[in-house]
Amino acid sequence: MTQHVGGHGDSPVGAEASSPGAGSPPGSGGSSFHTMWRDLLPIGRNPASGGYRRFAWTGADLDCRAWFKEQAEARGLGYEVDRNGNQWAWLGDPAAGDAVVTGSHLDSVPDGGAFDGPLGVVSSFAALDELRGRGVRFAKPLAIVNFGDEEGARFGLACVGSRLTAGQLTVEGAHRLTDGDGVSLPRAMEAAGYDPDGIGADPERLARIGAFVELHVEQGRALDLSGDRVGIASAIWPHGRWRFDFRGEANHAGTTRLVDRRDPMLSYAETVLAARREAELAGAVATFGKIAVEPNGVNAIPSLVRGWLDSRAEDQASLDAVVGGIEKAARSYAESHGIDLDVVRESFTPVVEFDHALRDELGRILGKDTDLTVPALGTGAGHDAGILSGTIPTAMLFVRNPTGVSHSPAESAAEDDCVAGVLALADVLEGLASR
Ligand code: GLV
Ligand code: MN
Ligand code: MN
Repeated sequence: MTQHVGGHGDSPVGAEASSPGAGSPPGSGGSSFHTMWRDLLPIGRNPASGGYRRFAWTGADLDCRAWFKEQAEARGLGYEVDRNGNQWAWLGDPAAGDAVVTGSHLDSVPDGGAFDGPLGVVSSFAALDELRGRGVRFAKPLAIVNFGDEEGARFGLACVGSRLTAGQLTVEGAHRLTDGDGVSLPRAMEAAGYDPDGIGADPERLARIGAFVELHVEQGRALDLSGDRVGIASAIWPHGRWRFDFRGEANHAGTTRLVDRRDPMLSYAETVLAARREAELAGAVATFGKIAVEPNGVNAIPSLVRGWLDSRAEDQASLDAVVGGIEKAARSYAESHGIDLDVVRESFTPVVEFDHALRDELGRILGKDTDLTVPALGTGAGHDAGILSGTIPTAMLFVRNPTGVSHSPAESAAEDDCVAGVLALADVLEGLASR
C-alpha cells in the first residue's frame, strides 16, 4: 500500500522543521498548535475510558463548535455555518472562487481518540498562524472547515455534512436518519439551535473551491514502519455498512427446551464467524461492532438481534465477494434455526482515488527544498475528503501514529510529529494559495 512520491532521500518529510526548537521557522504554528490542543482536549472526554463522546449536535459537539467559532473570530476570519451545519472560517473573499480549503471534523466515535478529526482542524488553524508568522501573502481565498457528523456515531451514516453538501445524501434520506432514541437528524439540528430547513446539495459552495486538503492522523502503522512523520493519501478503499436483522421468538431462558427455540443469537454468532472467514479469504476487513438485542433480558431468548456489519476491501470486486459471502452464510444459518433475516445496505462509499495532479503537487511542494521522501498511503478509513473527491480536487496528509490504533482512547501521535504535520500543511497551503 505504500509508495513514495516527491523527493528521493530517506529522511522523513519535515524532520528538521518538526522539532519546535532547532528547525522552527519564523511562524508560530508549533506553539499555537500546543495551546489549541490543550484547550480542546477536555471537551467531551469520558473520564471513565479516557475516550471522547462528541456526537453530532449533542452538548459536546456544540462545545467543539463554539471552540471553532472562537478560533475563527480570534484570527479575524469570516465565520459562517453553511446550510448543512458545516462550519467555515474564511481568509479572503469566499465568492472570489478557486479557494484553497483545509480542515476535518471535530465529532468522534463512541469513546474515540483525541486525534481522529480534531488533529486536522487544530493543524489547519496552526498552519494559518504559521503562514501569517512567515508573512505569506495569499493570492487565493483560504478557508478552514469543520464538517459536521463525520463519524456517523449518532445517526448511523458517516460524513453527513459533506455528503449533504456534495449531493450524495438526499434531503429525504437525511430526514429518515434517526438516533437510538428515535430523534431525527433535522430535529436534533433544531434542538441544537440550527435551522434544518435548508439542508441539501450545495453545488455553488463547492464550485468556489479549487482544492481541499485534509490532514488526518494515520489510522495504521505505515508511517511508523517507514520512519516518516508525514505521508500523502493515495486512495480510500470502498466501504459500507449493512444492517442484519435476525428475527426469532422470545421465550423463557429456563423453561424452553433447546430443540423448541428459535434463537436469533445463534445465527448472528455464526454470521460473525463467517464475516471473519470471508474477510480473511479476500484480504479484506469485516466487523460487527454494534449490536442491538430485543428484549435484551438475561433470562429471555431474544426475539431480535440486529447487528451492523462494516466491511471494506481494496477493490469493489473483493468487497462484493466478502459481503455476498457473509449474507449467503447468514441466510443459511438463519434458515437452519427458523429465523427470518433482513439485510439492508445502510451506506456505501465507492473507491476513492485522490486527484493525481494535486497529489503530485503536494509531493513537489513537500519535497521541494528538502529532497525528502513523502510516502503515499492507501487507507481503509473513510473521510470527508473522500466524499468531496468526486466533485472537487482533494488530497490528504497523514501524520504518524506510533501504535496505529484509532477509534479508541489509545489513538496517539507525538507532539513533534503533530508539529511536523502543521508545517507540512502550512507548506502545502502556501504552495497552493500564494500564487
Ligand atoms: C470513519 O472514520 C470511518 O472510516 O468509519
Ligand atoms: Mn474516524
Ligand atoms: Mn476522521
